[in-house]
Amino acid sequence: MTIGVRTETANGERRVALVPSDVAAEVKGGSQVLIQAGAGELAGYSDQEYADKGAEVVQDAGEILKRSDILLTVRFAAADKDNAEEQIAQLKENALVVGLMEPYANAELFQKMAQRGVTAFSLELLPRITRAQSMDVLSSTANLAGYKAALIAADRLPRLFPMMMTAAGTIVPAKVFVVGVGVAGLQAIATAKRLGAVVSAYDVRPAVKEQVQSLGAKFVEMELESAEGSGGYAKEMGEEFYRKQRELMAAVLAETDAVITTASIPGKPAPRLITTEMVEGMSSGSVVIDLAAERGGNCELTKVGETVMHKGVSIIGPENIASQLAYTAGRLYSKNITTFLKALRNKENVLEINREDEIVAATLVTYGGEIVAASLGAGEKN
Ligand code: NAI
Repeated sequence: MTIGVRTETANGERRVALVPSDVAAEVKGGSQVLIQAGAGELAGYSDQEYADKGAEVVQDAGEILKRSDILLTVRFAAADKDNAEEQIAQLKENALVVGLMEPYANAELFQKMAQRGVTAFSLELLPRITRAQSMDVLSSTANLAGYKAALIAADRLPRLFPMMMTAAGTIVPAKVFVVGVGVAGLQAIATAKRLGAVVSAYDVRPAVKEQVQSLGAKFVEMELESAEGSGGYAKEMGEEFYRKQRELMAAVLAETDAVITTASIPGKPAPRLITTEMVEGMSSGSVVIDLAAERGGNCELTKVGETVMHKGVSIIGPENIASQLAYTAGRLYSKNITTFLKALRNKENVLEINREDEIVAATLVTYGGEIVAASLGAGEKN
C-alpha cells in the first residue's frame, strides 16, 4: 500500500497529517510512504527527517494524489473547499482518504468522491468511546485550543493574570470566566489557573461541575435545566433557554476581565450566548476569546480571524487556533490518524473495511460509490 501526504492547501493551515516519527512504523509495516517536499516545513519537520525515516520525498502534490492508495490529510473536502474539487479529480481511483472533512457542510463534494469510488473517513465523526480516544482528533485540537485561548487572553488583557505583591502595591488577580467546559474549556481553566487567574466556569451539562472544581475553579450555578444530549455532548435548546442563560450570564460578565467561550453543539451553529448589550456591560479593557468563532461564534460581535473592538472590549475570534501550535498539533494529529489507520487493518495488517465496527460505521462517509454517512443523506445512488 502506498500512503501519501501532501502539503495542506487550506488557507492558513500549518499542520501536517503525518510526522516523521510515525513514518517509520508505517514503513516497517510494509507500506511505502510518499511525502510532498515541504509538507512538514511550517510545522517544524524537515524533508530530511522524513527521508531518514524511510519516506520518499515527492515534489508534486498531483503525483502524491495519483499514486496514493491511502491519502492522509488534515483538511480535505469541505474542510478545504477551495481546492477540494481539483484534488478529488486527481485522486487515484478507489483511493482511501482520511482527514477532517466538515461532513455536515457540503454533500456535493462527497457525491464527487463517491463517484470516483473513494472510500472517505471523516474524523470529526469519531464516536466518543474509550477505544476511539487515542484517535480523537477533535479532543487533541480542542485541548490545544483551550491552552492557547488562555494564553491569548493573558496576552491581550491589559492587566496581570496572577496576584502580585510589589513595593508599589498589591495587584489583584484577573477574573477569568470559561463558558462551555468540554475538552477545550477544561484546558483553558487549567492554563488560566496555572497563570494565576481566579477562574470560574459554566456548562449546561451538570456533570461538568465536579471537573471544574477539581481544577480549583468555581462552578457558576445558574437556574437552568440540564442540556445534556447523547454521547456526552450538549443538545440544542430552544430560544427561551438561551434567553434565560444570557440574562443570568450578564451579571457574571460584568464582574469578569476575560471570558473564554467554547460552547458548541455538534452539527449545529454555536449557541449565541453573549449579546452586544452584555459586552457593553463589561469593563473597558476586558477581553472575550470566542473559540466557537468558526462555528458562528458564541458572541454576537465575533468575526472569524479578527479582533473586534467594541466600547473598550476586545472580542477575539481565533481561526484554526491549533495551527498556531503546528508542531505539537501535527504530532498529536499524526498519532491520532495512524492509530485510526491501524484499527482499519486486520491481523495480517491488510486493510479491511468492517462496517459492523462502531468506529468504521460512524466515520465512513463514502464507500462503494455511495454516500454512506447518515448526516449526508446515506443511500443516495450516483
Ligand atoms: P463540544 O466542543 O461539543 O462543546 C464544548 C462544550 O460546550 C460542551 O461541554 C458543551 O456541553 C458546552 N455547551 C454547549 N452549549 C452550551 C451552552 N449553551 N452554555 C454553556 N456550555 C455549553 O464538547 P467537547 O469538548 O467535544 O466534549 C463533549 C463531551 O465529550 C465532554 O463530556 C467530554 O468529556 C467528552 N469526551 C469524551 C471522549 C471519549 O470518551 N472518547 C473524548 C473527548 C471528549
